[in-house]
Amino acid sequence: MVNLILFGPPGSGKGTQSAKIIDKYGLIHLSTGDLLRSEIANKTPLGMEATKFMDQGLLVPDEVVIGMISSKLDANPDARGFIFDGFPRTTAQAEALDKLLALKKTAISVVLSLEVPEDELIKRLLNRGKTSGRSDDSSEDVVKARIVEYHNKTAPVADHYAKFGKFRKVKGDGSEAEVFDLLCKELNELVAEKV
Ligand code: AP5
Repeated sequence: MVNLILFGPPGSGKGTQSAKIIDKYGLIHLSTGDLLRSEIANKTPLGMEATKFMDQGLLVPDEVVIGMISSKLDANPDARGFIFDGFPRTTAQAEALDKLLALKKTAISVVLSLEVPEDELIKRLLNRGKTSGRSDDSSEDVVKARIVEYHNKTAPVADHYAKFGKFRKVKGDGSEAEVFDLLCKELNELVAEKV
């Protein structure tokens, strides 16, 4: 199995590139942001609780997102592999994911980190906010709060995987096609090793 974490700050292109990667490599896309937004759209109790955090640009509690990922892993027993987008976002989530994958006799293959300057992140998110209807994209204060959460709570996840030699940086501020080419170079190597 190939299990990829697409890592990076808000607006770095994780969702955009995940859509391209699943088409090419046949992996299953697990985005905790998309799962949470679907809970909110369906007005579930979980969604109502999560929206309080998301509207302020804060992370949702670990146990909520770990539970969602666990159910999705169980629901896809025959997957060729997974692409995790927006998860894990804390060291506790990374440790929980490692345990869930170990139960399935697999592990994270690689973490590819999209590196994009902060002014470009803010520009991309505020631009999307004009049309997306995403409440967390519409105010510069909330966008900046998301970036602060990333530095405080998510950036340490890089060290967790670097310890195992699984963390790689990819230049993320080119065009969508250029970034995809760089990701494919990394993934082709990995897929060739697994065959
Ligand atoms: P989530 O949905 O994960 O959002 P995010 O990571 O904050 O930001 P995005 O998904 O919007 O960024 P992205 O890197 O995917 O970039 P994208 O491709 O969309 O999380 C939202 C919230 O949910 C969190 O704040 C938190 O509250 C909660 N949450 C989610 N997961 C959680 C977890 N595990 N634990 C706790 N809480 C969690 O691109 C952004 C824009 O840039 C788009 O408009 C795109 O078209 C554009 N773009 C992309 N690539 C390029 C390019 N190369 N050039 C120019 N523009 C580009």
